[in-house]
Amino acid sequence: MAVNEQDVQKIVRQILSEMGNTSAGAEPARGAFTSYTSLGNTSAGQIPKTAHVAVLVEKERFEVKEYPIPPVGDDDILVRVEGCGVCGTDAHEFKRDPFNLIPVALGHEGTGEIVAMGKNVKKDSAGKDLHIGDKVVTCMIFHDDPEITMFDLNKQNVGDADVYGLLPDDDYHLNGWFSDYIFIRKGSTIFNVSDLDLDSRILIEPAAVLVHAVERAKSTNILRFNSRVAVQGCGPIGLLCIAVLRTMGIENITAVDGNEQRLAFAKRLGADQTVNFMEHQGIEALTKAVYDSFGGHLADFAFQCTGNPKAHANIYKFIRNGGGLCELGFFVNGGDAQINPHFDLCSKEINLVGSWVYTLRDYGTTFDFLKRAKAIGLPVSELITHKFKLDDINEALKTNLAMTGLKIAIVNQ
Ligand SMILES: NC(=O)c1ccc[n+]([C@@H]2O[C@H](COP(=O)([O-])OP(=O)(O)OC[C@H]3O[C@@H](n4cnc5c(N)ncnc54)[C@H](O)[C@@H]3O)[C@@H](O)[C@H]2O)c1
Ligand SMILES: [Zn+2]
Repeated sequence: MAVNEQDVQKIVRQILSEMGNTSAGAEPARGAFTSYTSLGNTSAGQIPKTAHVAVLVEKERFEVKEYPIPPVGDDDILVRVEGCGVCGTDAHEFKRDPFNLIPVALGHEGTGEIVAMGKNVKKDSAGKDLHIGDKVVTCMIFHDDPEITMFDLNKQNVGDADVYGLLPDDDYHLNGWFSDYIFIRKGSTIFNVSDLDLDSRILIEPAAVLVHAVERAKSTNILRFNSRVAVQGCGPIGLLCIAVLRTMGIENITAVDGNEQRLAFAKRLGADQTVNFMEHQGIEALTKAVYDSFGGHLADFAFQCTGNPKAHANIYKFIRNGGGLCELGFFVNGGDAQINPHFDLCSKEINLVGSWVYTLRDYGTTFDFLKRAKAIGLPVSELITHKFKLDDINEALKTNLAMTGLKIAIVNQ
């Protein structure tokens, strides 16, 4: 006789209830809640009745809506939000709604403090204890499978593993980190990061992209302590790339960008040399500038951190024969790039890797990276150039789109 999973759960529950243990196997159905008084852990005095959530109600317009905070069930966690970074994905969604999510509560680079949790909640996704008052982040990746580096926006496929800040509105409403409270449900990926300061916690998600890219680069066996590394593009992604490389001991880094302010910051984050591509006409002159920056050598390895197809084509020239390249600048389709497969790739025996998002394992490494970067004095938190209040979220997104700063964040005080 074929027994399906639901039947098995029913049988287990029945046996447990006959044993007088009514709670262990009884998962509350979605929407069925225990009252605060039966919770294992609360600081109920501090919890307001309602939460404020920035909901993208139409393209280019968030509205801060007020919703009742649902009772916290046995497997739920209520987090008071402290801050959340604005990601390029939020900006795409704000401007064009490419994923058809409106109405949606956005914000996935968020962090905050646990103010209530159900009695079944004991550990985070890494096995670390969770308590009231702990500082946490969620992660968009829900399987620790090295092959899975992407998140699936289809709720059907995601199942009960909730991806906060990217799912269309539902009965819970408290689904995104652009809010003052977020409601974390069973099956979510959550980490206790109480040992990181607020700015570092806001930078975890973008930094994980670079930890992953560097792991991909290491798979070529070319990156060494004394490697000459070129990082092209000094937006938040390229700058974090430089900080990750420097933190892992690589010192001979040349940053390439057209913006002097960003290049100056690249130096403070660990680049030894900079090349402003605006000062060099043509690819030969630019290649010579990179070659000169390494004292008469091409790069052993290069990271491509712009979304510009021309920049992709250029970067092969900066790399020595047998060197490596990590292309991570195209999170979205930025168009086709033209290279010469003979000169750029085959005859140079370039070791090329692509890198997209991160795995769950990269998250743990990222926490360590942020601590070490701070310990060696890299001003990583200065990547956050603008902080807005939740009520000013539309302005925050517009500032992101105007590209006048680096990392924009919403911070609740
Ligand atoms: N792989 C991933 O998972 C992942 C994740 C997030 C973002 N990204 C991608 O990384 C890219 C960079 O992100 P960001 O937030 O730093 O963007 P950004 O736009 O702030 O920075 C890009 C930088 O590249 C510079 N640039 C542009 N053309 C150049 C050229 N020809 N040569 C040298 N520099 C040039 C710009 O001046 C700018 O400073 C984006 O295209 C984004 O899609 C990838
Ligand atoms: Zn992001």
